Amino acid sequence: GLKKKEVHLLCLGLDNSGKTTIINKLKPSNAQAQDIVPTIGFSVEKFKTSSLLFTVFDMSGQGRYRNLWEHYYKEGQAIIFVTDSSDKLRMIVAKEELETLLNHPDIKHRRIPILFFANKMDLRDALSSVKVSQLLSLENIKDKPWHICASNGLTGDGLQEGVDWLQDQIQ
Ligand code: GTP
Ligand code: MG
Repeated sequence: GLKKKEVHLLCLGLDNSGKTTIINKLKPSNAQAQDIVPTIGFSVEKFKTSSLLFTVFDMSGQGRYRNLWEHYYKEGQAIIFVTDSSDKLRMIVAKEELETLLNHPDIKHRRIPILFFANKMDLRDALSSVKVSQLLSLENIKDKPWHICASNGLTGDGLQEGVDWLQDQIQ
């Protein structure tokens, strides 16, 4: 059959936002882990779409590990940035980390696509994806294609829409 194009994908966002849960859900059901634990450092995962083979650097979002992120920026060809939409207090921290990412020399001048998941949309006090987009000031991102989807990492709701968009950006 046709060989799929390989793409290096960075999965970023604060701890507890649901990065590992989302990446796990994108794998075939027989390859999914049952228990998700907080990521230590980072973990390399793979998942496929119809035309692409993604190699994912699923980074830990814990403060003490966030300095690892930048070492993977150079080889990253796409980014998934996950937020916990119910964590209003830390949305400001997520915004700061996003700004640091966007200003990094290995990211700043590249047209790298960024997919945002406004995750945990099932929680009663979750902000809408429009509100998350406003709090992160996504309208200021002019030089990179970006897209935001509300998602539920536990059920997988919203993930396909996001990954379809990402695949379209990479073709
Ligand atoms: P670090 O590896 O520490 O950076 O965290 P992470 O972003 O990988 O988060 P992880 O996937 O470990 O999920 C953190 C917690 O959120 C787990 O208890 C998940 O079950 C839960 N979780 C993930 N996605 C959702 C969601 O959409 N809704 C709800 N209610 N819980 C979720
Ligand atoms: Mg994790």
